[in-house]
Amino acid sequence: MSEVERRALFGRAKGKKLRAHQSELMGSLLPRLEVGLEALRQGSLFEPGRELWLEIGFGGGEHLLARAAENPDVGFIGCEPFVNGVAKLLAGVEAAGLENIRVRMDDATALIESAPDAAFSKIYLLYPDPWPKRRQQKRRFVSEANVVALARALKPGGELRFATDIDDYAGWTLRRLLASPLFVWQAETAEDWRTPWQGWAPTRYEAKARAAGRGSAYLTFRRR
Ligand SMILES: C[S@@+](CC[C@H](N)C(=O)[O-])C[C@H]1O[C@@H](n2cnc3c(N)ncnc32)[C@H](O)[C@@H]1O
Repeated sequence: MSEVERRALFGRAKGKKLRAHQSELMGSLLPRLEVGLEALRQGSLFEPGRELWLEIGFGGGEHLLARAAENPDVGFIGCEPFVNGVAKLLAGVEAAGLENIRVRMDDATALIESAPDAAFSKIYLLYPDPWPKRRQQKRRFVSEANVVALARALKPGGELRFATDIDDYAGWTLRRLLASPLFVWQAETAEDWRTPWQGWAPTRYEAKARAAGRGSAYLTFRRR
């Protein structure tokens, strides 16, 4: 992928200059935690038998850090192409002394493609870039192709958890997932998709949405 295509896809891969300690962590901690695609293929990122959960586009890592602290027996992979987000996550991993997070600083597509079948028990896709304009919508992470790729990487009975503050993206995602024979939407009442998951850790993006007066949809899909 060319740099121009990368920027178009991710919006921006680099923003504010990193603080000195964040830069240091990018050189020291990231290489220790970085997910190599071959290690992912081989299932050797954690000891055998550990459940794996994935968060795609973790932003500043607030949710990933909270989930990892709460579930020390689960192995977490966070995937985020934005360097400032990765640096922030690393600072959080260091501060909390977490041993169960691995990081991939890239587009999640290659990571999902490289994962063995049924690798993950849960996949979180929280507030993916909404690409609101009609001509941009083809860039949305939820596409027919990615629905199939996510299903392959999830265990039967595993969950895809999706949150958005953009009504149109909630509808877009529901249409694609309801049309897929690979997933079952878990909501029974409106309360189910209006209420965050148990132990929810609000993300930075969610805080911005609330400040702007927007609510959220929390959609849970079970892999058949
Ligand atoms: C709107 S932000 C939300 C961040 C975070 N989940 C939150 O709720 O605060 C979307 C994030 O997805 C990341 N992203 C965009 N495209 C991606 C892709 N193809 N793979 C992984 N992450 C991606 C962006 O860099 C950005 O950090």
